[in-house]
Amino acid sequence: MTEQSTCVPAEINTGVPSAARVYDYLLGGGHNFASDRAVGSRVLQVLSAGREIAQSNRAFLRRAVLEMMDRGITQFLDLGSGIPTVGNVHEIAHHANPDIRVVYVDYDEVAVAHSQLLLEDDANATVINADLCDPEAVLGSPELPSLIDFDQPVGLLMVAVLHFVPDEKDPAGIVARYRDCCRPAAWSRCRTSPPTTSRRRWAVSSRR
Ligand SMILES: C[S@@+](CC[C@H](N)C(=O)[O-])C[C@H]1O[C@@H](n2cnc3c(N)ncnc32)[C@H](O)[C@@H]1O
Repeated sequence: MTEQSTCVPAEINTGVPSAARVYDYLLGGGHNFASDRAVGSRVLQVLSAGREIAQSNRAFLRRAVLEMMDRGITQFLDLGSGIPTVGNVHEIAHHANPDIRVVYVDYDEVAVAHSQLLLEDDANATVINADLCDPEAVLGSPELPSLIDFDQPVGLLMVAVLHFVPDEKDPAGIVARYRDCCRPAAWSRCRTSPPTTSRRRWAVSSRR
């Protein structure tokens, strides 16, 4: 069975599950469909703590954003952002300072469509539809310069996403490319859902 929502482009088949919406389901959000809930239920069968892990990831995200803001970060690049509901970066940041700028990046068309709808009245937040494994496409995106100034400190976030990047794509190299672009004085926070490979652990711990 498929459902359609006003925040999903007509060409998207909601009968096909999306990682972003399955995650939204695990978080207790409302931006998911029967196909996503079916996968989410399977996930919970094999990983009974799936909801707690998702909520723990979200709590980590909150702590990371608040910590970076405490250290003077006023612009965030969130790679693999998912559907920005249930306490995401712009909500956390704008609660304290509406001038903080946030750019979300995701390659899931449904997540991007939801994000565009949620952010349409927010001049300080936007979403880019791009594959984070292609840093040149992300960093060369025409929407980026209006909100992110790489000459100023950037808060770089990759939360619950690096486990989607296969070793063949060199996750450490990808993280390094973004990290190097964010110098000087950038802060990055990465978190993967367990299990991680040792190579990926290296990637997430390689920068303060
Ligand atoms: C588990 S969700 C995490 C969402 C968000 N970071 C959070 O913590 O709530 C993973 C998201 O990463 C996105 N994603 C996975 N691989 C990606 C890639 N190569 N480029 C862009 N987005 C990607 C998925 O579409 C999904 O929305």
